[in-house]
Amino acid sequence: MSLSLSLLLLSLSLSTTFASLSLPSASPPPPPPPPLPGRFIKSNPPLSLRRGSPQQYIELTKPLPTDGTTPSCSVTLLRHTFANTAGSPPVASTYSPPTTCPPPWHSVVLEMRASSDGDQYDRVAGVWLDGAEIFRTITAEPDANGGFWTVRKNVTRYDSLLRRSNLTVTVMLENVVDDELTGAYNVDLALLYYQNYISVPSSRDSDHHKLGPKLGLLKEYRSVDFDNRERKLGFIDGELGVESEKLTDSASMYYSTTPADLIIPISNVPKEEGSWFRIEKGSDIGLREIQIPLNTSKAVLEVYVSFHGDDEFWYSNPPDAYIKKNNLTTVRGNGAYREVFVSVDGIFAGSVIPLPVVYTGGVNPLLWEPVVGIGSFNLPTYDFDLTPFLGMLLDGKSHAIGLGVVDSIPFWLVDANLHLWLDQGSSAVQAGVVNTQAPAVEIRRDAKFQHLDGSFKIGALRSSQFSGWVKTSEGNFTTQVFVDFKVKNTVSFKRKGTSKLVQQKVQAQTERRVVSEMGLMLSQKIIKRKYPLKMIAQARPSRLGGGIYLVETNVSHSLTETSDCGAADGASATSSLRNKQFSWGWMMVKDQFVLSGFANMNQTLSSKDEFGCFSRIVRATKGRIIGDLKNFTCP
Ligand SMILES: *[C@@H]1O[C@H](CO)[C@@H](O)[C@H](O)[C@H]1NC(C)=O
Ligand SMILES: *[C@@H]1O[C@H](CO)[C@@H](O)[C@H](O)[C@H]1NC(C)=O
Ligand SMILES: *[C@@H]1O[C@H](CO)[C@@H](O)[C@H](O)[C@H]1NC(C)=O
Ligand SMILES: *[C@@H]1O[C@H](CO)[C@@H](O)[C@H](O)[C@H]1NC(C)=O
Ligand SMILES: *[C@@H]1O[C@H](CO)[C@@H](O)[C@H](O)[C@H]1NC(C)=O
Ligand SMILES: *[C@@H]1O[C@H](CO)[C@@H](O)[C@H](O)[C@H]1NC(C)=O
Ligand SMILES: *[C@@H]1O[C@H](CO)[C@@H](O)[C@H](O)[C@H]1NC(C)=O
Ligand SMILES: *[C@@H]1O[C@H](CO)[C@@H](O)[C@H](O)[C@H]1NC(C)=O
Repeated sequence: MSLSLSLLLLSLSLSTTFASLSLPSASPPPPPPPPLPGRFIKSNPPLSLRRGSPQQYIELTKPLPTDGTTPSCSVTLLRHTFANTAGSPPVASTYSPPTTCPPPWHSVVLEMRASSDGDQYDRVAGVWLDGAEIFRTITAEPDANGGFWTVRKNVTRYDSLLRRSNLTVTVMLENVVDDELTGAYNVDLALLYYQNYISVPSSRDSDHHKLGPKLGLLKEYRSVDFDNRERKLGFIDGELGVESEKLTDSASMYYSTTPADLIIPISNVPKEEGSWFRIEKGSDIGLREIQIPLNTSKAVLEVYVSFHGDDEFWYSNPPDAYIKKNNLTTVRGNGAYREVFVSVDGIFAGSVIPLPVVYTGGVNPLLWEPVVGIGSFNLPTYDFDLTPFLGMLLDGKSHAIGLGVVDSIPFWLVDANLHLWLDQGSSAVQAGVVNTQAPAVEIRRDAKFQHLDGSFKIGALRSSQFSGWVKTSEGNFTTQVFVDFKVKNTVSFKRKGTSKLVQQKVQAQTERRVVSEMGLMLSQKIIKRKYPLKMIAQARPSRLGGGIYLVETNVSHSLTETSDCGAADGASATSSLRNKQFSWGWMMVKDQFVLSGFANMNQTLSSKDEFGCFSRIVRATKGRIIGDLKNFTCP
């Protein structure tokens, strides 16, 4: 539908819908347009006027291989209705593993069932087990008939925690219920345990291959970077003998997906605001002093992150100069560059540009009904391999692990889990740091504006590498870690600032190599991610006046991820995921309330991994799915 036609239809239909709205007869200064993009809330009719059944919300993801199969047993973690919980401590319960199906488990899956009625904002929620976060999610915004949804997450990597008894479970979901905000969230959390091996579809053979010439895969990766910047590192040529196969075997812990032996939370001491660190500015650091076992042979830091308040749309923030020069009252500034980083004893140990997840109330809540934005229901976490830092950490003393967000403004919620693998054959290992060289980020900013119109560009690039050796009972292995990303961001304003276009492109690559004492590369894993985002929001005052605005909103974003893993003994594994979502529509808003509107969306997802292939195409319009095709065929 063209905008002019929809405007016409809208003013026709609104004359009835909003008959009771008193329209101003004089012409006071028009109220300012809504923030673009902003966080909105659906204004639902009273419960008595509801006609339909509740909306089921979904996030399009790759299904878990266990979906649709019966778990060996399950445990309820928590059942709670989160009403006016703001400012209260997290809700707590106790966890112990099931006695009916004791470990070992092949997989453990966390299942959240949630529902809500009434008007409510999207809220962030977190689940912690003994202070270690295991799940972070954003709630859906209920629509006129209420809403419900189910999220499942593979939590097998927390196996060492899940085996322990009498752990405190805490759940944080800060909600406000008052005269205007009426929606409470009912949450039901359970763990599903699968003891048996999950059968793998027959397509497995086609994508799980043994390498032909040994190290063939590894050679292919010589110049893997996005800018063809060749790595300045010695490579191993030629065939590897039997000797190295034995070595690969003993080094296998460095590339296998076996869960860690121990998890140390890098989170806040539990208090009213929850276990996450609240980051309000660039200089804030969430710090935790920890001591690790002397026989730690591998360490991976998993970081949870979400952005809120003035930084919910950080990738769309203009520089402060624009805000000041135009005498704007908004505080959503500080430019559009944010980088989440981790540190070990104050030394930079890796960073990431987070996936710009658009929450269910973001830009236009109608766009996320019933299919929510990529990552909303199960926020991604980011892994940093800290094995190269073991040479610093293995002295029996306390060390500080830190988390921060470059250039942040209020507020970000971050915390992390340190996953540790222990040498089963010794009580202490030796380790040394070889290199923790991390050049500063290269960043270029370009700002051009006149009055309210203009454009702001940022280009940034970071290339870090870390390496260190660990001598375990299995041998002396050096881990080399490369973390690279580049980001391009453009924010432009037109039509006196009432039309905003945001474009961001992020490419990131993480590579980990394990090298033997003789300098042979034993395994290599490369993960590449791309996540572009394009967002358009333009507002114009409605003919109805009264501070009502008509906002046109388009959002297209995607996530592409490939992972390639190879070992010198010929083992290899590859996986890929492509998830692309395009949503467009408009809404009528007054303040933060969406009065009416219209939205469309289409999304395609395809994935390929050791379990097989999956592809799904979904289309939705006006809050209903109008097309949903899926198959498990490998192209
Ligand atoms: C869960 O993840 C683990 C790796 O942490 C993997 O081995 C397992 O197959 C996964 N299970 C499911 C159901 O996806
Ligand atoms: C867990 O706590 C209960 C009650 O405090 C106690 O009876 C039980 O022995 C504890 N179990 C373990 C494994 O510590
Ligand atoms: C902003 O305020 C200053 C001081 O009141 C004024 O001189 C300037 O013209 C204003 N600028 C705009 C764009 O309104
Ligand atoms: C490794 O360290 C842990 C924690 O200190 C200890 O419990 C374990 O026994 C050690 N392993 C060996 C083989 O000594
Ligand atoms: C382990 O290997 C590294 C690199 O090959 C070497 O520099 C280091 O001295 C070795 N450590 C021990 C204890 O042999
Ligand atoms: C939003 O997307 C729709 C559908 O592709 C398109 O017709 C419309 O022109 C777009 N709006 C803007 C402002 O780009
Ligand atoms: C989704 O809609 C956009 C705009 O109409 C179109 O360009 C794109 O091809 C569509 N994608 C799919 C998968 O239907
Ligand atoms: C189904 O599989 C084929 C490959 O055989 C692929 O091209 C197609 O896009 C898939 N269709 C859907 C709806 O996922």
